[in-house]
Amino acid sequence: MAIILDTTQIDYIKQFNKVEDPLILEMRNYAIHRKIPILEDISVELIKTFIKIKKPSRVLELGTAIAFTTIQIAEVLPENSLIDTIEKSKDNLTIAKSYIERSGFQNKINLIEGDASEIIPNLSNKYDLIFLDADKEAYEQLFDQSIELLNDDGIYIVDNLLWKGFPASQTVPKEYEISTKHIRKFNSYFFSSDKLVSTLFPVGDGLGVGIKK
Ligand SMILES: C[S@@+](CC[C@H](N)C(=O)[O-])C[C@H]1O[C@@H](n2cnc3c(N)ncnc32)[C@H](O)[C@@H]1O
Repeated sequence: MAIILDTTQIDYIKQFNKVEDPLILEMRNYAIHRKIPILEDISVELIKTFIKIKKPSRVLELGTAIAFTTIQIAEVLPENSLIDTIEKSKDNLTIAKSYIERSGFQNKINLIEGDASEIIPNLSNKYDLIFLDADKEAYEQLFDQSIELLNDDGIYIVDNLLWKGFPASQTVPKEYEISTKHIRKFNSYFFSSDKLVSTLFPVGDGLGVGIKK
């Protein structure tokens, strides 16, 4: 793996962001053992910080997995705010439903089943924050579809823009060549979009954050 931050720096940062909630710890262990990709803790913390500043009424997440980040977003959402989250994998949906029930945040989470590319065109809500964390090859299409649903001054967040360090590397392992190509192409697209003012945070796997003009 190419290196974004060296492990000494990462370990130093981690001591200040200890996850202690037993349900979240259980979810993280579950995801690790089943090899289900979830957001890194430091990236969750950054998103939670944006939520606390922005106080969004409505959030959209594209790619729920087991609801690891969904639940942590719901926890810091203001009363009466809602997160819509879309997941296409039936297996992940079953796990996500059970964790959402156990979290007690069912009233703040609307889990939508299906492919986001088919669901977004039927959404009538506008959002104050959108978080894109789905298949890399679909990023450009999902971005184009969902950016129209973001309110002015809304925040658009995308994970994996530094993709294990490979987009910036000269050498990329064979199994990561296609995904790296998708991320490089998306990065050019995202950071040249005239709809957003954007920054790439070297946090976790690289978080792109744009504010809607
Ligand atoms: C990286 S995981 C999401 C992790 C989650 N956001 C978190 O932070 O814990 C990506 C998830 O997106 C789902 N996914 C990928 N493409 C999708 C699409 N077009 N529509 C809905 N779900 C999608 C996958 O099934 C997978 O569960």
